[in-house]
Amino acid sequence: MEIKKIICIGAGYVGGPTMAVIADRCPEIGVTVVDINPERIAQWNSDKLPIYEPGLEEIVLRCRGRNLFFKTASPELIAEADMVFVSVNTPTKTFGEGEGRAADLQYLEKSARFIRPHLKPGAIVVEKSTVPVKTAEAISTILHFESQGPRHPVLSNPEFLAEGTAIRDLEEPDRVLIGCEQTPEGQLAAQALADVYAHWVPRERILLTNVWSSELSKLAANAMLAQRISSINSISALCEATRADVGEISRAVGLDNRIGPQFLEAGIGFGGSCFRKDLLNLSYICEHEGLLEVAAYWKGVVAMNDFQIERYTRKIVSSQFNTVAAKKIAIFGFAYKPGTDDTRDAPAIQVCQGLLREQARLAIHDPKALENARYDLKGVEGEVAFEPDPYKAAEGSHAIVLLTHWPEYRKLDFQRLYESMEKPSFFFDGRNWLDHAALHRIGFNVYPIGKESLSHI
Ligand code: UDX
Ligand code: ADP
Repeated sequence: MEIKKIICIGAGYVGGPTMAVIADRCPEIGVTVVDINPERIAQWNSDKLPIYEPGLEEIVLRCRGRNLFFKTASPELIAEADMVFVSVNTPTKTFGEGEGRAADLQYLEKSARFIRPHLKPGAIVVEKSTVPVKTAEAISTILHFESQGPRHPVLSNPEFLAEGTAIRDLEEPDRVLIGCEQTPEGQLAAQALADVYAHWVPRERILLTNVWSSELSKLAANAMLAQRISSINSISALCEATRADVGEISRAVGLDNRIGPQFLEAGIGFGGSCFRKDLLNLSYICEHEGLLEVAAYWKGVVAMNDFQIERYTRKIVSSQFNTVAAKKIAIFGFAYKPGTDDTRDAPAIQVCQGLLREQARLAIHDPKALENARYDLKGVEGEVAFEPDPYKAAEGSHAIVLLTHWPEYRKLDFQRLYESMEKPSFFFDGRNWLDHAALHRIGFNVYPIGKESLSHI
C-alpha cells in the first residue's frame, strides 16, 4: 500500500519533530500535524516554534507549506489520510486507580474516538505516543467496537528519541520498531510504514515484531537506561563516603566491552518525561500480573533517583553550616538536561522545592528553560527570581548550584562570579561538569557528586 497522506494527532515533543523529519525525507508524502490546542498550532506556524530542539527549525522552515502543514483537527483531514499517527500526551495518572503510577490514557482514548467515524477504509493507525503496553490494543478496541464496521490495522511504533538530540535520533536511529498484529493485513500495514522509514533508514535497522514486544521494548529500554544511572548514582554515594572517585569508576567500568561507557555519568539524577513514568508503569504492570518482586525491582530504580536528589539537597544545606535560611543561592540550569527547554520531572524542581522549604532565596538561571521553570514553581512558597543573566543570578549569593550541564556554563568567568559572591563561596556541581581544582584555586568550596569535596574551611 502506498502512503501519500499522513496525519498526526498531537503536535508535541514527539509528533512535531517526527513529522517534520518524515516530511523532509519523503517529499512525495503530504504530512499534516493537528492539535486540539489552537495556540500550539499557531506557534508551529509562526517564527517561534513551541519547542526548542536543535536542527528542528531549519527542517520546519524547509518543509512548512511544501508538504508539512500544521492545522487544527477536522474530520476532512482525517478522511483524506492513508496513515494516522496518534502522538498525544500520556502522563502518569494523578487520580483514581493507579494514581501516580499508571499511564493516563484519556487523551489517547479521545483521539481514537475522534478519528474513528472519519477514517477512510483501510487507513492505518500508528500508535506513536510515549506510552506503555496495551495502548495499540486500546486504540484498536475503540476503533472496532462495532464488529460490522471497517477494520483498521493498528501499529505500535514506539519513540526512542531523546530530547536535545531528537533530530539526529530521528535521522539516524539505532533502530525503528514496528509492532503489528500477526495477520496478513497487520503485516501489510507494517510493511507500508517500514517503506516510509526506508526513505532514509537502512532496512536492517527496521525491526518488525508483534505488538506486545514492540510496546514492551520501549519500556524495557528506558527502564534499563534509567537503571544504569541509578546504579552509578548509588555508587556515587558510596564514593563520597569512602573517598573513591565516581568518575574513575565510571571509566573503569565502562571500558568493559560488555558494559560500555554510556549512561554511566553520575549526577543529581535523571529527569524528563519518560524515565520515571516508564519505570512506574512497568512496575505497575508487573504488579497487575502478580509479579511483585519484579515490580519492586524496577520501583527501586525510581527510589534511588529520589534518594540521590534528596541526598544532594541535604548536602547543599549541611555544608553551609546547616542553614540556608535567608541566604541567596544561584541555581545554574533548570532543564532536565542540556539542549532542551523541557523541565518535566527535572531534578531541579525537587532541589529548588527542598531549598525553599529551608527558606533559601533562589535566583534561577537557565539558557532556555526559564519560562517552564516559572511555571513549575508557581505557587511554591518562598522567594524565587528568574534571571536571564548568570552573573546577576550569582551576585550576592552564598552558593552556586549547577543542575544542568549546559556547555555555556564551562565558558563562564568564574573569577568574576566568585568576586561578586558572599564569602565563603560555595560551588555545588550536581553534574560533575566543571574543573573542580580550578574552582577551588579561585577560592570556591567545591562539592561535586561522588568525589571528595575541595574545601577551604
Ligand atoms: C530518554 C531515552 O534516552 C529515549 O530513548 C526515550 O525515547 C525517551 O527517554 P530523554 O529523557 O530525552 O530520553 O533523555 P536522556 O538523554 O535519556 O536523559 C534522561 C536523563 O538522564 C537526563 O536527566 C540526564 O541528565 C540523565 N542522565 C543521562 C544521567 O544522569 N546520566 C547519564 O549518564 C545519562
Ligand atoms: P509528547 O512528549 O508525548 O509529544 P506533548 O505534551 O509534548 O507530549 O504533546 C502532546 C500534544 O498532544 C499536546 O500538544 C496536546 O495538546 C495534544 N493533544 C492531546 N489530546 C489531543 C487530541 N485529542 N487531539 C489532538 N491533539 C491532542
